[in-house]
Amino acid sequence: MDTVRTDVLVLGSGAAGLFFALKAARFADVLVVTKRGLSESNTFYAQGGIASVTHKDDSFEGHIADTLAAGAGLCHRDAVEIVVREGPARVRELLDLGVRFSTTDDGDDLALGREGGHSAPRIVHYRDVIGRELETALLAAVRSNPRISVREDCLAIDLVGGAAAGRVSGCYALDRRSKTIFAVVAPHTVLATGGAGKIYLYTSNPDVATGDGMAMACRAGASLANLEFVQFHPTCLYHPDAKSFLVSETLRGEGARLRNLAGGEFMKSYDPRGELAPRDVVARAIDREMKRSGDKCVLLDITHRPAQWLRARFPNVYENCLKFGIDIGVQPIPVVPAAHYMCGGVRVDMDGQTDLAGLMAVGEVACSGVHGANRLASNSLLEALVLASRAAAKLEGSAERGAETPAGKLALPGVRNPKVLETVILDHDWDLARRVMWDYVGIVRSRERLGIARERLGQILETAERIWAAYGVSADLVELRNIALVSSLVVESAIMRAESRGLHYVIDYPDPDPAWERDTVIKRGEAAA
Ligand code: SIN
Repeated sequence: MDTVRTDVLVLGSGAAGLFFALKAARFADVLVVTKRGLSESNTFYAQGGIASVTHKDDSFEGHIADTLAAGAGLCHRDAVEIVVREGPARVRELLDLGVRFSTTDDGDDLALGREGGHSAPRIVHYRDVIGRELETALLAAVRSNPRISVREDCLAIDLVGGAAAGRVSGCYALDRRSKTIFAVVAPHTVLATGGAGKIYLYTSNPDVATGDGMAMACRAGASLANLEFVQFHPTCLYHPDAKSFLVSETLRGEGARLRNLAGGEFMKSYDPRGELAPRDVVARAIDREMKRSGDKCVLLDITHRPAQWLRARFPNVYENCLKFGIDIGVQPIPVVPAAHYMCGGVRVDMDGQTDLAGLMAVGEVACSGVHGANRLASNSLLEALVLASRAAAKLEGSAERGAETPAGKLALPGVRNPKVLETVILDHDWDLARRVMWDYVGIVRSRERLGIARERLGQILETAERIWAAYGVSADLVELRNIALVSSLVVESAIMRAESRGLHYVIDYPDPDPAWERDTVIKRGEAAA
């Protein structure tokens, strides 16, 4: 098996991975391995922005209080303080890197958007394409950095080493172009693989979001936390040909109203904050409204804004809806909730350190304690940038830097015959796993449905592991195995949490239980709270 050696291995090329790579390249050689093209990440599709205190009338205390309130008792206060207070410095760094942000009409200040759960406008943004803007600037800096190399179209399969070996020392990966498996050996590996929206049938996430980092970390013996808290975005475009198109919450920040198909506004009857209630509240209200009426979607109406203004502020939403025959200036947008963001993930401290030596995690794959039971809108890019920056600084000063790595030839463990399979027989199980999650582990859960999901996902995981051990590796199988494992971990975490809190709503226990004001932690099948 070919082996590549580097100082630092970064898996994933969204904002967290690229920002970390740029910082680490000041003192180390960095290899970024990414499963598709460099820009294909959740970051690229982000529309809202970065929540950060940049205006004199706003305050750190306000942002901290809003984050804690959305997190429903589970945010780690120290983590929230760090992220909020270090945010403005990271925004300034992005400006220095050439990232453009929308400004006020006089051009003197950053324009600030508003989203659900925020007590003040504080979302710095670039029209409705902040993700594209951010990713483009970071990629340009990465490409021109001589200490960073990149391997695109390479899917990480598993980590080298793990708890049993005493540390993680890189990864095994599948090169999709040459169809060969190779190893990357590095004293430091950073998971920046993003989230796992694709464990659900309907999601705002791109195809790459299959929970690979969470699954690899689990198999290596790292702890994962709070996986039951899956955030459903209330408003994804409902159209048979639209795959995963998000209609940004910032539309509601600009006055868009939700209506049922009979034309009635309903949000105020669920929450006095109306359309700007936190996301879990809005998603559940839409779910209730759809179940009550039997309708397949609700409507988001921003027709009170002039078309010219809409085209300037929301060019992405405007153009995309128009492609599907919806002119948002004159007609309301059909929308439904869809899986959007994993609040849980690989458990890390505020320097991105997991509980395995040699393994860090940053961005959506990680659970640092900032989001608690429900992430406040636009806090994710903020957390990704702050954590990536702190993880690189920690590594620079670490006595561990350049720890020993395994010498000699490596072999992918657990696979009898590591050949690459060309097969599509797995498509059925892929769809089945995602449908089980959608039907049984959605916005409203029950003990009975979670039990059914546990059984069905267990079978899918077992089949995937059997094919894996007996026949070899294919990209579809790698992802199916990861989807099945992460789905099972979500279900186990959901079963463990015998209460309703934040994004986790179970009809059998409709209220929060103070005894459960703590994280759920899962480590290689064994569960502890
Ligand atoms: C949005 O634009 O609605 C998404 C922003 C986020 O998920 O924080």
